[in-house]
Amino acid sequence: MKTLLLFLFVAVAAVYSQVPERCEAPQAFESKIGRLDTIRGFFLRAKVSYDARNMRTRVIEEVETREERDYYDVLYLHNTQPGKEYRFNLKTKQCETTMLNTTFRRFEIPDFARPLGEFTVGTKGEPGEGVDVTLWGGRTEDGADWAGVFTLAGCVPVNDRYIRNATSFDNIDFYDVTLGIANASVFIPPHECMP
Ligand SMILES: *[C@@H]1O[C@H](CO)[C@@H](O)[C@H](O)[C@H]1NC(C)=O
Ligand SMILES: *[C@@H]1O[C@H](CO)[C@@H](O)[C@H](O)[C@H]1NC(C)=O
Ligand SMILES: *[C@@H]1O[C@H](CO)[C@@H](O)[C@H](O)[C@H]1NC(C)=O
Repeated sequence: MKTLLLFLFVAVAAVYSQVPERCEAPQAFESKIGRLDTIRGFFLRAKVSYDARNMRTRVIEEVETREERDYYDVLYLHNTQPGKEYRFNLKTKQCETTMLNTTFRRFEIPDFARPLGEFTVGTKGEPGEGVDVTLWGGRTEDGADWAGVFTLAGCVPVNDRYIRNATSFDNIDFYDVTLGIANASVFIPPHECMP
């Protein structure tokens, strides 16, 4: 009986260890990202500066000179009423300022998300060859499907997927994340955007 109880206890502990704990993602960070833009129909790389406390994000796309495409440097300010978007075209050097009608996009585990497991990116073979991550998913208020991957240590975003429908989705991979904002002037609109 004692052995059986011990066995059950160990089994229960093993099951619980598979359920990742909700964690709090960093409130401010900078990162290189890879992003599949289904609206424009191509994959692009960019640098992101993200400040959740003040609800502001800057996304500076990397210009691929071999491609005849428009690339943008976009500043999203949600801390003004209404929010503002400064969209600077890196090719034409024209800036367009519009009101923001969307809510601030947070890179964190939302309340509606369920834990979908704990995994290793890479391999567990040797120390340093893998990174332990947790996977979360759920449905947003507006009916979109969301899934996110976060590192187990530090709760740093690794991947963020926002799926409106089969043809319209946003997939972001985060690389080389640094915590905090190196220079807060990244949240000042480019001078080309000022009247
Ligand atoms: C937000 O809505 C206003 C008014 O409907 C529109 O002029 C503006 O272009 C919209 N902004 C964005 C970023 O879609
Ligand atoms: C998918 O969502 C996009 C953006 O909301 C919309 O423009 C498009 O018509 C939708 N496509 C389908 C097949 O529902
Ligand atoms: C921050 O960036 C601005 C604009 O690029 C620059 O003028 C300033 O020297 C930078 N500050 C620091 C501390 O690097």
